[in-house]
Amino acid sequence: MSNDSTFYDRGAEAIISLKNGMIEKERIRKRYRIEQIDDRIRRERTRAEVRITAAARQLGIPTPIIYDIDDFTIIMQFIDGVPLREIITPQLSYRVGELIGRLHSGGIVHGDLTTSNMLLQSLSSSKQKQKVGKIYLIDFGLSYFSNEIESFGVDIHVLFQTYISTHADAFTLIEHFSTGYKRTFNDAKAVLKRVSEIEKRGRYT
Ligand SMILES: Nc1ncnc2c1ncn2[C@@H]1O[C@H](COP(=O)(O)OP(=O)(O)OP(=O)(O)O)[C@@H](O)[C@H]1O
Ligand SMILES: [Mg+2]
Repeated sequence: MSNDSTFYDRGAEAIISLKNGMIEKERIRKRYRIEQIDDRIRRERTRAEVRITAAARQLGIPTPIIYDIDDFTIIMQFIDGVPLREIITPQLSYRVGELIGRLHSGGIVHGDLTTSNMLLQSLSSSKQKQKVGKIYLIDFGLSYFSNEIESFGVDIHVLFQTYISTHADAFTLIEHFSTGYKRTFNDAKAVLKRVSEIEKRGRYT
């Protein structure tokens, strides 16, 4: 097997490389943090990401398969896809709602729900005729287990803020998301009500 490694992307906390057809995500040092604290944070986020990426997958949510883990590095499946940030539509937002409804039903809070952390899988032309690509969730480093309405509300609040700041017609995207979310999550109404309350808190404090 060849042993080539090419730079793929750089996130806020990690360098992403393509190595032998797999993704390597290495959390890099933050110089502004005390070294011991920085090491601990990077180690904890790496472990949380591995644990919860796999837990979400067990709920039937598409996430990359994890192949290996080291202190600050994860080797995982490369998802050939496009970030939803570039292609979001009301129809896709409805599907995101269904997906996050299932995630929350399973007691998982993502912690960084942005349209950059959702990839629409590209399909080869032969498959394309039969079905649409799956939406993959990635970047579970800030994820945790919870069943609290407030945690779910904050999760969705972050997503809606991304909609508002980066997408025209955010209102339609939010409506479609909410319809999908209600379809797959029994507590959806209570959570969406909480999201409005969180918005008001933000505006008046
Ligand atoms: N398994 C994967 N398959 C394909 N692309 C990926 C994969 N993992 C990460 N990427 C790409 O690399 C980018 C950065 O990855 P990721 O979001 O995990 O890093 P991060 O540093 O935690 O990001 P953030 O800036 O959100 O903190 C993603 O937005 C995506 O485009
Ligand atoms: Mg990210």
